[in-house]
Amino acid sequence: MDRRYLVLERRLERFREVLRRRQKDLIVFAENVKNEHNFSAILRTCDAVGVHRVYYYYEGRGDVSINEGITLGAHRWLFLERVESPVESIETMRREGFQIVTTWIGEDSVDFRSVDYTRPTVVVVGNELDGVSREVAELADVKIIIPMMGMVRSLNVSVATAVILYEAERQRQEKGMYDRPSLSDEEIEEIIERWAFEEVIRRRRPEVRS
Ligand SMILES: C[S@@+](CC[C@H](N)C(=O)[O-])C[C@H]1O[C@@H](n2cnc3c(N)ncnc32)[C@H](O)[C@@H]1O
Repeated sequence: MDRRYLVLERRLERFREVLRRRQKDLIVFAENVKNEHNFSAILRTCDAVGVHRVYYYYEGRGDVSINEGITLGAHRWLFLERVESPVESIETMRREGFQIVTTWIGEDSVDFRSVDYTRPTVVVVGNELDGVSREVAELADVKIIIPMMGMVRSLNVSVATAVILYEAERQRQEKGMYDRPSLSDEEIEEIIERWAFEEVIRRRRPEVRS
């Protein structure tokens, strides 16, 4: 039986609308963001602005935790992949034609608003204490900074990600990029099939009570 029939037509249409707005060529790379609240808030913002793919590197044991109270489920609707080597992964994306835009709190960075985010772009954000590693920063086509006028030199990483992504969203809206699907019809239907299946499984799973 086609599992999609078990999900309401309204819900399928919602999936389709969201996927038509997805920005296949706007990627977020989180390099060693460790705090589950920060990581989860980043994922929620990614979903909100139509980022489709999020890659992350995590040096800790196990995997970075996701707090569902913060994502409100947003993580389920993203293509989320952990990578072993940030350098290799970013080099690959660069070869594929993405510009690498790395956050960097330093003198040689430019204002984040001066970048053209309508080009295929990877936005790299870094660890809560150490920021983006030097090896990754060296791969950047451009290093960006959000101007800071106060006593503290940096923002919380999830806040910084949101500020940058909403600039990307503004520029992409202006160019009508949310009106033209970047995922193909086949890709959209394939994802809908998977989302519908996962949703059915989730609904059937008995609730775990603690
Ligand atoms: C708390 S900051 C890390 C601070 C670290 N000492 C440094 O120099 O990068 C964590 C992450 O948030 C992002 N971030 C915070 N404030 C930023 C700013 N003003 N401009 C650009 N990115 C920022 C960057 O991705 C950074 O790697």
